[in-house]
Amino acid sequence: EDAEAAEGADDDVLNIAHRGASGHAPEQTMPAIEKAADMDVDWIEMDIQMTADDELVAFHDVEVDRTTDAEGDLKDFTLEELQEMDAGSWFNEEHPDYADEAFEGESIVTLEEVIEALGTDENYYIETKDAHLYDGIEEAMVELVEEHNLIEEDSVIIQSFEQDSLHKVQELNDEIPLVQLLWWEVEEDEEGELVMDEWLDVTAAPDEMTEEDFAEIHDYAIGIGPHLEYYDGTEVIDEDFVSTAQDNDLDVHIYTINDEETMERLVDWSVDGIFTDYPDRLNDVLGR
Ligand code: G3P
Ligand code: CA
Repeated sequence: EDAEAAEGADDDVLNIAHRGASGHAPEQTMPAIEKAADMDVDWIEMDIQMTADDELVAFHDVEVDRTTDAEGDLKDFTLEELQEMDAGSWFNEEHPDYADEAFEGESIVTLEEVIEALGTDENYYIETKDAHLYDGIEEAMVELVEEHNLIEEDSVIIQSFEQDSLHKVQELNDEIPLVQLLWWEVEEDEEGELVMDEWLDVTAAPDEMTEEDFAEIHDYAIGIGPHLEYYDGTEVIDEDFVSTAQDNDLDVHIYTINDEETMERLVDWSVDGIFTDYPDRLNDVLGR
């Protein structure tokens, strides 16, 4: 029974499929999103940007170059132009172990296509990505989630690195749960020591965040989404940071964790959620 109780505690950790099950299929295309749903994840994470003709699409980079066969800024293309691009073949080249001919020619999808395909049985953890580039993205997103009853169904979280964007969403509809994403850069100082540098809307390094900093976020958000590691693997937050945030009534969802050992460590830290490209691995760790 004790073991069951411990497993029960693990159940509290949300399994958040990062860009869909993007380790298994091209990020943010229908195969990745459907695989995430098949893995019974708690949330399907998507980055949302806006096309030249004001449609909301699931796409991570500002430029289309990395994950399509075209070049240029996403915002300069219409939806029709974007949906002609091949958003799948790159994956087969980058991830031969998971390659599948069926991914060739996969399309960029709109947020509405995803919601209409999967309905409110699935939960959508959607990011206003590079929101400062897209005038009206918050209005369009709130309208869409209202139209599809996602708020009443507890099927939506809106996340952003940009505090202004979350404030706009809150002004439009204060019932939508919001998560403030965080990013800290690690840089060498003049002596060659690694020092933390804040970026975007974070006011302080993790170990310098005050109760006021957390309270400011708590004013509009239910939680924070910090990264665990800098690009070189340096860990930028620790268990103390997680519990301090939680003591300040903020849930902590950490991105992007793909190895089971780290997942286990974060479960031991009692984080509230983990973003992963491999939700199947997190399911294994959580005993689901
Ligand atoms: O939204 C959480 C995580 O996805 C943030 O990083 O760059 O993958 O959007 P990114
Ligand atoms: Ca994201």
